[in-house]
Amino acid sequence: MEIISNPTMDEIKGAARALKNGHLVAFPTETVYGLGADALNEKAVSRIYSVKGRPTDHPLIVHLSSFDQISIWATVIPDSAKKLAKEFWPGPLTLVLKRSDLAKNYITGSQNSVAIRVPKHPVANRLLYEFEKLGGSGLVAPSANKFGAVSPTTSLDVRDELGEHLLKDDFILDGGNCEYGIESTIIGFDGEIPQLLRPGSITVDQIEGLLQIQVQKSEFNSQTRVSGNLQSHYSPRATVIVSGIPDKGEGFIALSQVQTPEGAVRLISPSTNIEYAQQLYQGFRLADKKNINRLIIIPPTGDGIAESILDRINKAAKG
Ligand code: TXA
Ligand code: MG
Repeated sequence: MEIISNPTMDEIKGAARALKNGHLVAFPTETVYGLGADALNEKAVSRIYSVKGRPTDHPLIVHLSSFDQISIWATVIPDSAKKLAKEFWPGPLTLVLKRSDLAKNYITGSQNSVAIRVPKHPVANRLLYEFEKLGGSGLVAPSANKFGAVSPTTSLDVRDELGEHLLKDDFILDGGNCEYGIESTIIGFDGEIPQLLRPGSITVDQIEGLLQIQVQKSEFNSQTRVSGNLQSHYSPRATVIVSGIPDKGEGFIALSQVQTPEGAVRLISPSTNIEYAQQLYQGFRLADKKNINRLIIIPPTGDGIAESILDRINKAAKG
């Protein structure tokens, strides 16, 4: 497995060929790094599950280079989904739609829906474009971490997470630090009504503002296999405590305006909520590197992106 920094066009084409030949390629997106495989190659997709240690009933997101490819994967596309795609793609938004025959059980975890996203990171977008030019139909790409662990936001995080399981002909494409730092917002549909399945950087306010329809935030039902239902996710090894006071040597994460309690180990000091999202997973990883046992987090307050950050912090605390 080779890490390719700031890949050239030729190197991206090479990675697309590797994917078409059934190998795995980890690549940067604007949210987190993904581990890509040809969505139509069952063997390659099954390697994703084994490399990640992920249960096979946990569905994958199909990544496409543009909206134009969507109709081969989804049969019903509500108007509200079209509007969201037009406004926010390419970008950090995933739409869950009724699947076509192309979206096999080994992608969807046997659900009759398929998750689709068009990422905007130039390396991801170009890789998808080149893959489609070779006759490919889309790449499945879960976050490039061990199941239940913290999503990677740099190429070195990917190497640390999965490097030992990647083979000679697999690649890691490096594209710098991820712009958003938390996973995409996932929206499902009940007819035209959008349902929030995973909060992210595209906020409920933005979606409601565009559609003029209220987003359903009802409790996830047990059939919907999104990460939110799992006990442990996005977790560092340290025990995460939300809003406490750290003892000496314990980890501490808060906005920069919050002072570090005496003796605590400050892990990140984001000055805005956007920076908070960008840096949170780096803070988790740093806690692990420093062998910190207990990590105290003061979450940001407010709605929008703050709610998405709080969602990830709460899930880490459950782990
Ligand atoms: O930002 C992201 O979405 C990143 C980048 C790499 O694109 N990908 C990502 O994939 O977060 P993953 O596999 O780590 O998380 C995808 C989530 C899972 O929690 C999965 O359960 C949910 O999407 N999902 C996938 N297909 C679904 C479906 N048909 N119905 C409901 N949830 C689905
Ligand atoms: Mg993930």
